[in-house]
Amino acid sequence: MTQQHPPRSHAIRSRVRSYSRAGGRLTDAQTRALERYGSRYVIDVPRADAIRTVDPAFRLAPASVFGHVGLLRPLIVEVGSGAGEAILAHAAAHPGVDHLAVEAWETAIARIVAGAARLGLRNLRVVPADAAQLFATALPVGCASEVWVFFPDPWRKPRHRKRRLVNITFADSVARVLRPGGVWRMATDWADYAWQMRDVLEEVSALPEGVEADSTGPYFRYPDAGARADLGSDTAEEGSPGNGFDPGSPAGVRGGWSQRYEGRVLTRFEDKGIRAGRTIRDLTAVRTGEIWVAPRRQAVAF
Ligand SMILES: C[S@@+](CC[C@H](N)C(=O)[O-])C[C@H]1O[C@@H](n2cnc3c(N)ncnc32)[C@H](O)[C@@H]1O
Repeated sequence: MTQQHPPRSHAIRSRVRSYSRAGGRLTDAQTRALERYGSRYVIDVPRADAIRTVDPAFRLAPASVFGHVGLLRPLIVEVGSGAGEAILAHAAAHPGVDHLAVEAWETAIARIVAGAARLGLRNLRVVPADAAQLFATALPVGCASEVWVFFPDPWRKPRHRKRRLVNITFADSVARVLRPGGVWRMATDWADYAWQMRDVLEEVSALPEGVEADSTGPYFRYPDAGARADLGSDTAEEGSPGNGFDPGSPAGVRGGWSQRYEGRVLTRFEDKGIRAGRTIRDLTAVRTGEIWVAPRRQAVAF
């Protein structure tokens, strides 16, 4: 017999998500960590219509979450923290910086909470939400000094590429959330995704089409545009989808890779990529002082 779904569940299924799982079976220790420390570390997010969605009316004020309204402390927002290796280490080493880990997967959320409790962190919270929605409406404009996207799910198959997090629409949301001078850091071990990220950064650091040079500027500077064009070409293998020669951007530029961000500890995902012989590519963009205006670009498919 055909399974019946209420009309709403079809809408939920048809939403493009960059994560493959939200729920998950927790170990006893993870369940205990959430029970014991969840109220300290996990931010309660009102939902729109399903797990990990964000009610568009929800506003998350980081300063009040961390209990220092009126103080402008640096804030790092990491998207897709996984087990939290990078953000936990950074938070422990930088007590004067606030950290938000945005994560969709329950098991990962529990691991970050357990880690934060073990380290006794006061400068980290976990936001259990789809970052694409959270960035678009809930976080205040200009609240973050850095946004990190390290080793996002690569969605390798061509038919799945529309699920990749980093696209023009998401870049606009990152511009919304970053302060002037704020830094967007990305890294991936998947060449094809690195080139997609590079193409996105090139596009958002150029003047929007049809806009006069003296009326408004781009939201980002891309200081390493075209840099290290040969990175990984020595390890490229014919026909390998995970490593390859840079095909060049739509503007014909190759490269665009930053030096490895020294504030990132080696995560399991990065290690796995290195062991598999893949090239790790870092990308960096800097938010300009241009005032953010609600979407002036349409999403384009990559
Ligand atoms: C491949 S893992 C990388 C984890 C970590 N950054 C690292 O380097 O080890 C990607 C993570 O991003 C999470 N994720 C994917 N899309 C997301 C989204 N839209 N919002 C929040 N988390 C997301 C997934 O649940 C997963 O834990």
